Amino acid sequence: MNSNIRPENMTRITTRALADAFIAEQVELVRRQVGDKKVLLALSGGVDSSVVAALLIKAIGRQLVSVHVNHGLMRKGESEAVIEVFRNQLDANLIYVDASDRFLDLLKGVSDPEKKRKIIGAEFINVFSEEASKLEGISFLAQGTIYPDILESIKQAEGKKAVKSHHNVGGLPEDLQFELVEPLKLLFKDEVRVVGEALGLPHGMVYRQPFPGPGLGVRCLGAITRDRLEALREADAILRDEFDKCGLAEKVWQYFIAIPDIKSVGVKDESRYEGWPAIIRAVNTTDAMSATVEEIPYPVLHKIVNRIVTEVDGINRVLYDLTPKPTGTIEWE
Ligand code: XMP
Repeated sequence: MNSNIRPENMTRITTRALADAFIAEQVELVRRQVGDKKVLLALSGGVDSSVVAALLIKAIGRQLVSVHVNHGLMRKGESEAVIEVFRNQLDANLIYVDASDRFLDLLKGVSDPEKKRKIIGAEFINVFSEEASKLEGISFLAQGTIYPDILESIKQAEGKKAVKSHHNVGGLPEDLQFELVEPLKLLFKDEVRVVGEALGLPHGMVYRQPFPGPGLGVRCLGAITRDRLEALREADAILRDEFDKCGLAEKVWQYFIAIPDIKSVGVKDESRYEGWPAIIRAVNTTDAMSATVEEIPYPVLHKIVNRIVTEVDGINRVLYDLTPKPTGTIEWE
């Protein structure tokens, strides 16, 4: 039986009891797989990797070494938050690596979304290999791969045109020296959250909106430049701040800004002002396979638009993407 295929009779994890049973089973499986070896975990701070961290800490304690790589494509304040929660509050064995320059140098001039994903995925593995070689006896790499990632890869293997290669699956080099530990690979996102709560993670962490592995790299559309990336980070922080203040953050599954590589003519301080457009995306879904657009009340939209065009250098327009999935995917790349 292919362990990457979810059995048809697998019960959907919707309750605490089902989550507890899943956790108990995975704890056993992980202990059996890992023995007394050490596991390296890519801890992005998103829901998936946080739940994997909590599950592995439960299963193997200090044998888990968590590495947080700042690839320069994190949201504003995000790496700081990961350090605060995991190192200071959960006392995890956490290594922080600032690899921003490496990633941004490699991505320079690369505009194809799949190439960007592959570069980011492969560089992630390089960074982990380097960290592993500094440590004694790391044999396994844990990942927060979930079932939608696997489904897209299966489609690709069957010769159907995959929508996009999520880097957890698509970017791994052939000669990967680690064996993988992927305890969430048969779960949908809503199930991962139920498991996270059962593991005792803070509510805010478990219900944090998902963030793709390649981060702002697939929202700074086309070839990434540092100035447009910085504008994106600031605009995104404003959107999140306003969604927090008006309660939409609790209600909307995923919301973010994307910035295309185009400029339009605008006016500021009575002078011509060429700038990028910031695109607001706010969608609801249960499993990320399809999505509907959230209605943002006009007063909230106006506030967001005003703040972005006045507070963020380089942005002169704000657009609101009203396209459901299908036909639009959630991300623009
Ligand atoms: P799409 O854009 O395919 O996104 O509708 C569905 C969900 O997957 C996330 N996403 C990714 N996650 N690596 C990831 O780990 C990726 O390359 C990637 N691309 C999209 C997206 O944010 C949404 O939640």
